[in-house]
Amino acid sequence: MKKIYDFDKVVSRLGTDSIKYEFRNQVFKNENVIPMWVADMDFETPDFILDAIKKRCEHSILGYTSRGERFYNSVANWLKKRHNWTVQPQSIAYSPGVVPGLAMAVLAFTQAGDKIIIQTPVYHPFHSTVKDTGRQLVENELIEDNGFYEMNFEKLEAQIDSRTKMLILSNPHNPVGRVWKKDELLRLGEICVKHNVLIVSDDIHSDLVFKPHKYQPIAQLSEAISKQTISFFAPSKTFNLAGLSTSVMIAENPKLLEIYNNTLENLHLYTGNIFGNIALMEAYEKGENWLEQLLAYLQGNIDVTATFLNENLPKIKMLKPEGTYLAWLDFRGYNLPQQELNNLLIHKANVGFNTGEMFGKSGNGFQRINLACSRETVMQVLANLKLVFDNL
Ligand SMILES: Cc1ncc(COP(=O)(O)O)c(C=O)c1O
Repeated sequence: MKKIYDFDKVVSRLGTDSIKYEFRNQVFKNENVIPMWVADMDFETPDFILDAIKKRCEHSILGYTSRGERFYNSVANWLKKRHNWTVQPQSIAYSPGVVPGLAMAVLAFTQAGDKIIIQTPVYHPFHSTVKDTGRQLVENELIEDNGFYEMNFEKLEAQIDSRTKMLILSNPHNPVGRVWKKDELLRLGEICVKHNVLIVSDDIHSDLVFKPHKYQPIAQLSEAISKQTISFFAPSKTFNLAGLSTSVMIAENPKLLEIYNNTLENLHLYTGNIFGNIALMEAYEKGENWLEQLLAYLQGNIDVTATFLNENLPKIKMLKPEGTYLAWLDFRGYNLPQQELNNLLIHKANVGFNTGEMFGKSGNGFQRINLACSRETVMQVLANLKLVFDNL
């Protein structure tokens, strides 16, 4: 019989050095905001993963660790089973987190001064990994129509020149929640192939997709695209393992794989984390039942949020995300300067969201909220919003 999990259970994270909780004062200047910002989940990490980690602790030595065949096979099997993508285990490399992987990719495949394109509004480390390494950031803004976002292909092609070396893709897209469709990815991939732009695809949210939407790996679309793509995956978002810093990079082009692995070695980041390796294997080998229940619960949180806002606060617009547990709320109906909006949310509604402009200037007037928490917490946040925004 399949085990049933209780996602309503509230577990205090206070005193665990959780960034989402302990950094509230530093970020919001209010240590009591209900934290809906950092993208980890307030749900318990699955028991079968915790059990395997505890079991490893029965051995009393935690020395340097390595990754064997089981590690790479578990990733390949998961991608086949969940996403129907056949990847050879030899095409998979380790990364100590997806963001570190993006930074390594920028260092490995581009030079200072090269141009790198991101599609804004997008996850803020996409901006910083480019800018902090002395590359030129090119923002290809997504086109928004009534809350629905699409890629701007015409502008993209016009923006590419001889200095443009890389495009960093978010699939599914954080924060707007799009799960890019085959035809969209194909068109994007073909433009990048035509202009010799390397695609770095961040697919960390690929398991968090709601029916009828379906995640499509861009590298699966054609041999030409695959040759020019590296993709990042991790069990960290899906199974709440972000503190273990373990993810993977997939390059079917052996040349790209070699360059990436050389960088990993040159930066001495190759070793990895003993518990992260165990957690990844357990997650990918045993995680489907837990994940299906998580997705159903998240869909419930998304549905109640959308319904509540629609019925009670229709000036706050929300289109249900196709993937990710993040919702992108449009507050532009209130016509407030962003700082004033932030102050109202933090100091009057007592909620800690990610302010929209951190994802790019087109995020002005928006807020990103993390719905991976108990239904009770979601309802509390919505009630707090109603008290403040009803009267505006
Ligand atoms: C698109 C995206 N990439 C990467 C990360 C973080 O990856 P990691 O913790 O493995 O560096 C996040 C976390 O929110 C994310 O949303």
